[in-house]
Amino acid sequence: QCGIAVESRIDCGRDRSLSRADCEGRGCCYVPLPQSGLGGPPWCFYPVRYPGYKMGPLLPTEKGQRATLARSEPSYLPRDIPTLQLDVMPETLGRLHLTLKDPASPRYEVPFVTSQSRGHKDIQNPLYDVDFQPDPFGFIVRRKSNGRVLLNTTIGPLLFADQYLQLSTSMASSAISGLGEHYTPITLDLNWSSVSLWNRDMASANLYGSHPFFLVQEGDGQAHGVFLLNSNAMEVFLQPAPALTWVTVGGILDFYIFLGPSPQSVVQQYHEVIGYPMMPPYWSLGFHLCRWGYTSTNITRTVVQLMRQAKIPLDVQWNDLDYADQRRVFTFDPQRFGDLPQMVEEFHQLGMKYVLILDPGISSASPPGSYKPFDDGLKRGVFIKNSTGQILIGKVWPGPTAFPDFTNPTTQDWWMDCIRVFHSKVPVDGLWIDMNEPSNFVQGSVDGCPDSDLEKPPYTPGVIGGQLNSGTLCVSAQQYLSNHYNLHNLYGLTEAIATHRALLKVKSTRPFVLSRSSFPGLGRFSAHWTGDVRSDWEQLRFSIPGVLLFGLYGIPLVGADVCGFGGDTTEELCVRWTQLGAFYPFMRNHNDRPNAPQEPYVFSQQAQDAMRTAITLRYSLLPFLYTLFHHTHSSSSTVARPLFLEFPTDPNCQSIDRQFLWGSSLLISPVLEEGAVQVTAYLPPGTWYSLHNVIPPLMLYILNQHIPSNKIQTYCSKGQCILFPAPLDTINVHVREGSIIPQQVPALTTTASRRNPFTLIVALSVGNWAKGELFWDDGESLDTFEHGHYSYVLFFAQEVQNRVNFVKLNGSLDGLVLGEVRVFGVQASPTAVWANGQKVHDFSYSPDTKVCNKCLCFILIFKMC
Ligand code: NOJ
Repeated sequence: QCGIAVESRIDCGRDRSLSRADCEGRGCCYVPLPQSGLGGPPWCFYPVRYPGYKMGPLLPTEKGQRATLARSEPSYLPRDIPTLQLDVMPETLGRLHLTLKDPASPRYEVPFVTSQSRGHKDIQNPLYDVDFQPDPFGFIVRRKSNGRVLLNTTIGPLLFADQYLQLSTSMASSAISGLGEHYTPITLDLNWSSVSLWNRDMASANLYGSHPFFLVQEGDGQAHGVFLLNSNAMEVFLQPAPALTWVTVGGILDFYIFLGPSPQSVVQQYHEVIGYPMMPPYWSLGFHLCRWGYTSTNITRTVVQLMRQAKIPLDVQWNDLDYADQRRVFTFDPQRFGDLPQMVEEFHQLGMKYVLILDPGISSASPPGSYKPFDDGLKRGVFIKNSTGQILIGKVWPGPTAFPDFTNPTTQDWWMDCIRVFHSKVPVDGLWIDMNEPSNFVQGSVDGCPDSDLEKPPYTPGVIGGQLNSGTLCVSAQQYLSNHYNLHNLYGLTEAIATHRALLKVKSTRPFVLSRSSFPGLGRFSAHWTGDVRSDWEQLRFSIPGVLLFGLYGIPLVGADVCGFGGDTTEELCVRWTQLGAFYPFMRNHNDRPNAPQEPYVFSQQAQDAMRTAITLRYSLLPFLYTLFHHTHSSSSTVARPLFLEFPTDPNCQSIDRQFLWGSSLLISPVLEEGAVQVTAYLPPGTWYSLHNVIPPLMLYILNQHIPSNKIQTYCSKGQCILFPAPLDTINVHVREGSIIPQQVPALTTTASRRNPFTLIVALSVGNWAKGELFWDDGESLDTFEHGHYSYVLFFAQEVQNRVNFVKLNGSLDGLVLGEVRVFGVQASPTAVWANGQKVHDFSYSPDTKVCNKCLCFILIFKMC
């Protein structure tokens, strides 16, 4: 019974450390190991077939099958739930849904996260098989096509008590990605590690968001995923078997299992459940600049002026809390920001946008009648209450604060009114919702928290501060839908929903919201940034898996603070970060108050040139990036993509997180080490063309600087690492053979660049073909895809000609010109070039680089008849 391989031992003493007597008293095996027990394999572990629930017969239901599970003996946990209801619901061919609940009394379940139509009837021949072990209860999910066991929960007991739910499972491989938000490589460490999911304003163990989802690469190109829809504080233990144990302190067990079989389809199946991401406004893909410490409108204006003087594109200027009168949101300081409305107007005149910060904490200490958001909120009953029914007061930037309960519809309306009134004075274009874990500078509340089972559950996951109320609200606080114990992890999501809704109503254009805290489903409403990262090389490196994982979590509009937020950056770090940031889906340079400035224009000419080149390259690629966002919005493909998603059968790609792709065609290989002027990058098999050192002639006029090299390099990779030169002015970007990348001549804002000619890069495959596409609309109207107000263009290149197929056209392309086509990989000089039936005389061909400019092309005027 106790002869279990060390790496497969499942800890019997997670809730507390046990003596031999305690351990054996639980009926567990006590087998000490020579090495210390801390952090390694457990000494006290469950024997094989540890008694648990016994499963009754499976009976058909409308959605699948149902069984009752019952314990004959209580477990060692307080308030055991002796009888459970198991529902097994095959929902689609690739999606299995399985829930375990208390049939006797309803428990908290996560509201409003899932968006899919639940349950199809009569799924024929799904990709999975499920078997059950009736006593003790466990289930086994297999991939039907090859019999592979994906999950096997018979390796440990199911425990289900009021405040402690536990389930272990074996894993099909050790390549597991997910369970954020943490600083982690793209695949998790399974060496007796654990991750906690409890949203917290703390840049270490448990970060701002919770995503109880993971994807497993099975090793042969196939993949599956698991989502535990539960918002309670959770800890997940990972061990080398490979195996994993979920522990959550409330709710129900609500599992979705996604069979893929490709990693990309796992992501799609997951997003079908939590909702496809929103379509961002075009301008939000431009460059954003912010810092805490732009202490007046004049200082903010100067930043914009200096950026324009330096000829560095900037779409969105931001203000942090500096703008607010005594740090109270929905006000602005009458002295330093008295002319904020005019400033915003000026930015709009420049074709720019403006975003400012909103914290959820509403100052509760202003004299009555002097601060409407609080007075009004009080009247309308919008604030979270403590366990005895008074408004819970915490402390955030303005001092004592009350916290809106966004699960209450009245609060959502009050929030909208606050935003409407503020927007009528300051016409912001988007809102940045910070501190929404929610963060609290006192533990629980200014009056402390009661001594209760909620505040001190029998088991507390490993959260920073040791208690669930550390750095946040008392978890016994009452909200409209439940207590904070259950709803805490949803605070940021609910605020994002309310803010998105308010902006939508007030502006009637696509809302832009940036939220620090997150939960599954946030991507339908908001973008995300990775919070307070330090200005150092390690955090630069972690930002890549951070960004890529948020793509898996359905929040593709994501980035880290470029150049880092905490501590002084250096010129070299800031250049490298700007180069990498130019390929974050969301690119914002943001800095903390005490630090040395890090706006691009404060650095040497050489550094500015390098930053300008990187940001300009991004701007030139925005039509391509926007098209990727269209795909993620309409079919949930990823934007910034880990290599394993695109090359699932290539084992070399399994854990690469120092490089990534945009869509399927652009490979980005940044420098991530101090002092490095070369980068070793992996090129998956095939032909790749360097893009970074080929600035199209049409782009040159904006750069207005010396361009070091203008030579396309072609690499035919067998799937190998290549050492590339990467001097300070270079980020290596390679185009994959067979792709056509739509670009647009950049400008200092997207308002201007959107009027410029398009260009195309045609990267021919060995078979001499390439294809690509463009989604184009006005960039800000609501639901353009859903209403058909967009153009969709397919580009094809074959041996003899390039063709452009307009799948759908509307006025948004009116007047736009295709200015230049460059074809990479043309083997011999063309004898003649024709466009729209006319001979093109000024084409050029370079035999050494095999690049043909204006080659084999139709020059097209995008004009509606
Ligand atoms: C914390 C945020 O993470 C940071 O970005 C912001 O600058 C400060 N709050 C001040 O608002």
